[in-house]
Amino acid sequence: MTTGQHSGILNSSPAARQSREPLLSLRWKDGKLLMLDQRLLPEEIVFLELTTPEEVWDGIHAMKVRGAPAIGIAAAYGVVLGANACQGDSDNWLGHVTAVAEHLATSRPTAVNLFWALDRMKARAAQLAAEHADQAKRNEGLLAEAIAIHREDEEVCRKIGEHALPLFASGMGVLTHCNAGGLATAKYGTALAPFYLAQEQGIDLKIYADETRPVLQGARLTAFELQQAGIDVTLLCDNMAGLVMSKGWIDAVIVGTDRIAANGDVANKIGTYSLAVLAKAHNIPFYVASPLSTIDLETESGQLIPIEERPEHEVTEGFGKRTAPSGIKVFNPSFDVTPHHLITAIITEKGVVKPPFKDNLASLFKKAD
Ligand code: MRU
Repeated sequence: MTTGQHSGILNSSPAARQSREPLLSLRWKDGKLLMLDQRLLPEEIVFLELTTPEEVWDGIHAMKVRGAPAIGIAAAYGVVLGANACQGDSDNWLGHVTAVAEHLATSRPTAVNLFWALDRMKARAAQLAAEHADQAKRNEGLLAEAIAIHREDEEVCRKIGEHALPLFASGMGVLTHCNAGGLATAKYGTALAPFYLAQEQGIDLKIYADETRPVLQGARLTAFELQQAGIDVTLLCDNMAGLVMSKGWIDAVIVGTDRIAANGDVANKIGTYSLAVLAKAHNIPFYVASPLSTIDLETESGQLIPIEERPEHEVTEGFGKRTAPSGIKVFNPSFDVTPHHLITAIITEKGVVKPPFKDNLASLFKKAD
């Protein structure tokens, strides 16, 4: 391990990496959160050592970690870091932990996994405060909860992959958008999970990855992680999707999501809606891979999902230099909403959900495991 120019731990350059083992975006080690700085991929692999909830807040806000499940996991560890720093008065512990969680909840608005994970940590903190007077015991309990959220996400992603795999057959071309892979989750990803399982089973898929303007999660992250795994992946600019569909190269589209409303409307990375419209026009199935933690039955429809707007420079300086006149007006929403009628099926850890989504999503939460 060598120290790089960034204040973090530089493991290796991606080109020098020998292993096909996936890069994990988050690890808990010796009381610290190791966070892969995804902004530096695919050029550098740098793990940041985070010791405070404020650093975790910044990591999520600045998209050092990104992807709905991964930001939920990071926030859960952020609560642990906050609890560990709470000195003294145990009467104050629950108030302190709750305040840390509420602050972390302000880091990004759209992915519901962030709020899901923080609500779970707050509920566990309340139980621990009632059960133990000793702060060390409470803190241990909170760490166990964050580790459980992290581990469960890996299992959930694998199950999503297992349920999605029968939708694909050798020789199929599959288009994906943004990065809903291992980097965005504990491991495997949601939309990319079936690609990893297909590879394990010798099913050859031809994956097309949209570059995903303006932050290029498709080019920098999806193309990177699939290529590192030895999966056949071809990178496309976002505006090429219609052409490749019209050529008959795409048999299915699969994407991840940041929040699914009760009626099945899906918020995901900007550009997802256009892809769904194109898929409909070409009669191509459009799948969404989602853990239950991304389904928000409290939000009735996609129109009510808060959509993050990001800074203008992501659009005007996207390639390391100015690419638009200074002073230009910019609109930079990070997500869009795909209406449920454009979605063929939603693949969860509990199985494949088909329309009518309102009833079928609600019944997922009633089913015993
Ligand atoms: O802005 P990002 O990179 O956090 O957006 C990520 C996405 O839109 C993903 O598709 C979504 O979070 C699902 S990740 C399994």
